[in-house]
Amino acid sequence: MCGIVGYVGPKNPKEIIFNGLKALEYRGYDSAGVCIFHDGGLKRIRAEGKLSVLEEKLEGEEFNGHIGIGHTRWATHGRPSERNAHPHNVKGVSIVHNGIIENYLQLREDVLSQGGVLESETDSELVAHLIAAEIDKGRDLFTAVLTVAPRLEGAYSILVVSEQFPGELIAFKSGPPLIVGLGENAFYIASDIQAIVSHTQKVIYLDDYEVAHIKDGHVQFYGLKGQPLKKTPVVLDWTVERAEKQGYPHFMLKEIFEQPRAVAAAIDPYIDVQSHTLDLGELRKENLKDLQRLYIVACGTSFYAGMAGKYFIESLSDVSVEVDIASEFRYRKMHLPEEALVIFISQSGETADTLAALRRVKEQGLKTVSVCNVKNSNIDRDADYHMYMNSGAEIGVASTKAFASSLALMQVMALGISKEKGLLSSEKETFYVKSLLAAPSLMENVLAYNRFFQEAAKDLKNYRGFLYMGRGVHYPIALEGALKLKELAYMHAEGYAAGEMKHGPLALIDPSMAIVMLAPKDELYEKTLSNLEESKARGGQIISIGTGEDERLKSLSKNYLAIPDPGSWMVNPLLEVIPLQLLAYHVACAFGHDVDQPRNLAKSVTVE
Ligand code: F6R
Repeated sequence: MCGIVGYVGPKNPKEIIFNGLKALEYRGYDSAGVCIFHDGGLKRIRAEGKLSVLEEKLEGEEFNGHIGIGHTRWATHGRPSERNAHPHNVKGVSIVHNGIIENYLQLREDVLSQGGVLESETDSELVAHLIAAEIDKGRDLFTAVLTVAPRLEGAYSILVVSEQFPGELIAFKSGPPLIVGLGENAFYIASDIQAIVSHTQKVIYLDDYEVAHIKDGHVQFYGLKGQPLKKTPVVLDWTVERAEKQGYPHFMLKEIFEQPRAVAAAIDPYIDVQSHTLDLGELRKENLKDLQRLYIVACGTSFYAGMAGKYFIESLSDVSVEVDIASEFRYRKMHLPEEALVIFISQSGETADTLAALRRVKEQGLKTVSVCNVKNSNIDRDADYHMYMNSGAEIGVASTKAFASSLALMQVMALGISKEKGLLSSEKETFYVKSLLAAPSLMENVLAYNRFFQEAAKDLKNYRGFLYMGRGVHYPIALEGALKLKELAYMHAEGYAAGEMKHGPLALIDPSMAIVMLAPKDELYEKTLSNLEESKARGGQIISIGTGEDERLKSLSKNYLAIPDPGSWMVNPLLEVIPLQLLAYHVACAFGHDVDQPRNLAKSVTVE
């Protein structure tokens, strides 16, 4: 959903801005550009395609100024092209924008009626026109921005520079994140901390309707009405995690292999390894004993982790759990009981719909819990209670290790609530805690079979479509498996509750259809096997994932992939998701797709 970077300072802006964009490439990668002062004017270079194309174009280009802005794009208005790439320059004003201007049709009319000539199909260019028009009327850059901002509806974070006002850079926002890093006589502005931390750990998070005005080596903060604001810097304690593949061909594969570590790091703050007991930490301040209703809200892969959470929590306590897709939840008419607790799961902590849903719930006075990977992200900062995935930076656009961490945290939540309610005997607590602690090494065992999953994937390229199925807690994992195949291999895959087969999907089955069935040996095993028989009888090609040496399942399957028996049903999803991720990864590689940056997607969805 676009990454923006700005720099003001004595160093080489080209390098700082480009490296910043590199750190933000996960946010969008269909085109990119920079605009930097040079010889007293602005020099702009843009390119369609991945950042590497811009990098080539920038090679040998000199910039002798000390202020610049950059952008890596995920197209909303206007197809990916150099013409639509940011920065957008109009009469010496240059802007980069992350977000969507919802009233752009009206603004377009206004700009055209004033004689403006549009060079792109974007909503963003209009902002440059509007600011340039205000400067034409004799306003200074700051006043021009304050005049234009109230006319913009929708979500935006914007950086502006102008040839008429060298030495100034203005950042303002309503929606997507914007952070100002305070360095030694230098300012680093970016959509995400990752583009800043290697330069400075002292940062200011801009809130909505706020402006940062950098001028003559100083920064001042204002509200959008021009009222001065006092903002206190946050000093981060981040180790700079280098985005390196460490010998893996892709970040995604590296991240799949990091899952055992991610799970261990996620559960660590809650578990006493000596006594095998569990403590929910700050969440114990909530009256969990009397908790009756819990809502879990998220998007995509995080939503599926939430669905699995429902199975965990409802199995271990008397709490009734509703799981909602954030984009539905935020607009639906609802009757949330005052005492309900609402959990928001988000790797990035920035997903626009999840954030809006959280704000809606907070307005109603309900208590909220964030489950995030990125600390200090909007969702993390806005929630009352916080759980961290602790997965480390997830660079691959398709989420993998954050899913595993979220699943583990949902188990911690289920156990914690059950314990607070007095429903978890100490024997059960020991059993579940021990099984969670054992999960990472079992996950290592599954990963060791990567070669077999790669072999199994060879056959999958040829199918017309895929049905991923499971029952109970395996159903959300089936949904996640189908999503991974869709987004990486660009093949049609649907996740289904296996019990729903007879209600429609059976009609799809013929020998060109692959059935990926999750059938571990649990209480629903026999029923799952019946579903498998039905699919096989209709010519479906079965790829099954089950427990250990399961001869019955093997005999029904074209390809049988075994995972170890973890002894606890709750740990099973952490194991069975690994073959699903690896199958999707290897099919995508076989097609030659860019698995780290699948087409049309972006990691952080900061617009709805
Ligand atoms: C799929 C994927 C997405 C995200 C979704 C929510 O692989 O990555 O479906 O899970 O966009 O993102 P977060 O968790 O950052 O809110």
